[in-house]
Amino acid sequence: MPDLSKITNIEDLRVIAKRRVPKMFYDYADSGAWTEGTYRANESDFQKIKLRQRVAVNMEGRSLRTTMVGQETAMPVAIAPTGLTGMQHADGEILGARAAKAFGIPFTLSTMSICSLEDIAENTGRHPFWFQLYVMRDRDFIERLIERAKAANVTALQLTLDLQILGQRHKDIKNGLTAPPKPTLKNLINLATKPRWCMGMLGTKRRTFGNIAGHAKGVKDLSSLSSWTAEQFDPALSWADVEWIKKLWGGKLILKGIMDVEDARLAASSGADALIVSNHGGRQLDGAPSSIAALPAIVDAVGSEIEVWMDGGIRSGQDVLKARALGARGTLIGRSFLYGLGAFGQEGVTRALQIIQKELDITMAFCGRTNIDEVDSSILLPGTF
Ligand SMILES: Cc1cc2nc3c(=O)[nH]c(=O)nc-3n(C[C@H](O)[C@H](O)[C@H](O)COP(=O)(O)O)c2cc1C
Repeated sequence: MPDLSKITNIEDLRVIAKRRVPKMFYDYADSGAWTEGTYRANESDFQKIKLRQRVAVNMEGRSLRTTMVGQETAMPVAIAPTGLTGMQHADGEILGARAAKAFGIPFTLSTMSICSLEDIAENTGRHPFWFQLYVMRDRDFIERLIERAKAANVTALQLTLDLQILGQRHKDIKNGLTAPPKPTLKNLINLATKPRWCMGMLGTKRRTFGNIAGHAKGVKDLSSLSSWTAEQFDPALSWADVEWIKKLWGGKLILKGIMDVEDARLAASSGADALIVSNHGGRQLDGAPSSIAALPAIVDAVGSEIEVWMDGGIRSGQDVLKARALGARGTLIGRSFLYGLGAFGQEGVTRALQIIQKELDITMAFCGRTNIDEVDSSILLPGTF
């Protein structure tokens, strides 16, 4: 077990992940669409919001425990769905789910994961987890996927609405992103510098899209799989499909990728249990505001009807606290999780969660609060949000 006591912030994990993960997959995580303006704003807009320091307030007996769609969580943070996570580290989704289980926070598996729904269920003692769904043209496949999610003990479904077409990420094109990497000279030279990663990959059978391979019609090998996924994201997705999925699923439903007040109203009237203010980590519409900037208007409009969560740019507990102060009942972390995973596998994810939890706890105390459920915008300095 590595000594991670000197790993004191998420940036430390990012730097080590960059060293350990093949360039193609590190770049896939650490990039946004086109100019990356929205990606950067997700992080930098948090810095503009200032906290009010309070003193001589009793800080004993603090609690970060809360609920997200009625489910208990150790802090208002869940692991976001991220595609190809099993390429950041061998068996990455299983390791992430185990770390989340031990920590007592929700883990979300992406449709585009390497480990399958069944892999997660089998390797976490059937601990409940969440699943993120992309709507594909092949609706039979979607029906079967939802059945598989139910059988795997998934307790909430996140339906992602903002990726029916793909925002361009320059690095993915330049790197020729594929899972597993194609054995070109450039890739082989890069892989030769990542022995830990290569050993991990040699030791696992999970190297392609686990939820899809062997489950979708006409997908037998890797080349048919990549053309299938490229063709399958359905650009005709509508609110009628949301209703269809809601019926089919029948459990807690979370709509992900809401950035506009009008869409938030439609999401609230769809009967979903939560919505996530999210611009997909700045990977889709470049030029959209940061998630934290979009949050307050959405909370104002629908916060009394539906749980409003947010993700995008969370790299510290301070960020979680600010999101909570602006009305987000819960938050999700994408890259903070991936950097931990890429750096040190399961221990790295646990370390990322410990770092965020400690920062959140101490910062809340500095702001004179002891219970996360009592944090509101009065902890923020007026004029900075
Ligand atoms: C590498 C990567 C892959 C992602 N894949 C998915 C995905 O498969 N499904 C999805 O709904 N969101 C996906 N997202 C978006 C995340 O769920 C989340 O919205 C975003 O990462 C939050 O921003 P953050 O990374 O700054 O925390 C992905 C994000 C990253 C960084």
